[in-house]
Amino acid sequence: MRIAVLSETDSAESRVAAVPETVKKFKALGADVVVQAGAGVKAGMPDAEYEAAGASVAASAEAAASGADLVLKVRRPGADELKLLKRDAVVVAIMDPYGHEAELQAMAEAGIDAFAMELMPRITRAQVMDVLSSQANLAGYRAVLDGASEYGRAMPMMMTAAGTVPAARVFVMGVGVAGLQAIATARRMGAVVTATDVRPATKEQVESLGAKFVAVEDDEFKQAETKGGYAKEMSAGYQAKQAELVAAHIAKQDIVITTALIPGRPAPKLVSEAMVASMKPGSVLVDLAVERGGNVAGAKPGEVVVNDRGVKIVGHLNVPGRLPASASALYARNLYAFVETLFDKETKALAIRRDDELVKATNLTHGGAVVHPGFQPKPDAASADRPQDAPQSEQAALGLSRTGVSESSTQSAGAA
Ligand code: NAI
Repeated sequence: MRIAVLSETDSAESRVAAVPETVKKFKALGADVVVQAGAGVKAGMPDAEYEAAGASVAASAEAAASGADLVLKVRRPGADELKLLKRDAVVVAIMDPYGHEAELQAMAEAGIDAFAMELMPRITRAQVMDVLSSQANLAGYRAVLDGASEYGRAMPMMMTAAGTVPAARVFVMGVGVAGLQAIATARRMGAVVTATDVRPATKEQVESLGAKFVAVEDDEFKQAETKGGYAKEMSAGYQAKQAELVAAHIAKQDIVITTALIPGRPAPKLVSEAMVASMKPGSVLVDLAVERGGNVAGAKPGEVVVNDRGVKIVGHLNVPGRLPASASALYARNLYAFVETLFDKETKALAIRRDDELVKATNLTHGGAVVHPGFQPKPDAASADRPQDAPQSEQAALGLSRTGVSESSTQSAGAA
């Protein structure tokens, strides 16, 4: 079996889908690994390290992809890459399928067997393959570093001969994987940390990390978690109460990190213009939800906005990619763990069990068609009698309700 690791064609992508450690593991499975020259350079992994791990290095994408049975990527292959792949090649990547029906169709027409890592069910068996968690964890950490570096004061309290520097006050909004890591990181840096979320289960988690929980804890809050462990969209009444509490709190904060997401919905608007205006000059907001519409009014994707009072709103894209070596190492291990389940160790070849729940949840295209029930072509006059989208319950079973509808990139897997 031949595995190809291609360079990312998007210049904003710094990660790579395999690292020397996973190359060695693929070799131990009995596969040949070909890495496109320079694929790991932005992540600090030169070609020589891949060669030392047993890979061969191909000068071009064409040479790397030629004859490959399995192609590993960070992002979905584009039209130019599809031309290079053989029909039936298995491609595993973060596919960002929502709203990209034409691109899925192009993969189907190219005969690709495409798997979307971000659709992996969050079940115990698949924890090691959970790219949303591995990347969100790093994003949460990096958000605090980005906030600290934009903040013109120190994070910890410092008592010096020249006087005392007070500890920074950090407020984390949204306490999923990214938020928990943001709390832990800000605490380690010596900040005074508070956090909020609409899921009651997060209160104990926040407190166990030594931070203070701030939320409207009414009856709606007590039922705000779905069976899958995700947030529900809150009522207008709750949001108004939450906004009032947050408004009073935010005015006293130095750094605000927002990570709030709701599956299937745009990111909730948590910080209004008035709240931003209430913050002290020099305060910083870091919006990790910016790729899904943003939690902070005025946040701009890919920009650091400074308002006329000197409050900064940080809206970096692909935040895990701002730690390319760590993000690649974790992503590559997630990929290896999944690919191992697609592999027959005796025949040393791919043997994909189509009835495996991991395969069913992640397989987008196969045999020339879009096979995932959540991404079937939309009804139109010509196809009115064709089967349409899977019912809601089926989508939920396949993990769609979990990952949500993103109109923009999933690099939040970014924050996702
Ligand atoms: P996410 O990325 O979907 O959302 C981030 C956070 O925003 C969530 O905690 C959510 O409750 C919060 N949020 C939504 N609306 C909000 C609002 N109006 N105000 C404040 N906060 C708001 O969440 P993520 O990180 O994917 O985690 C979701 C759940 O999945 C958590 O319970 C997490 O512990 C669980 N999980 C389970 C795993 C498993 O393998 N079983 C792996 C990773 C996470």
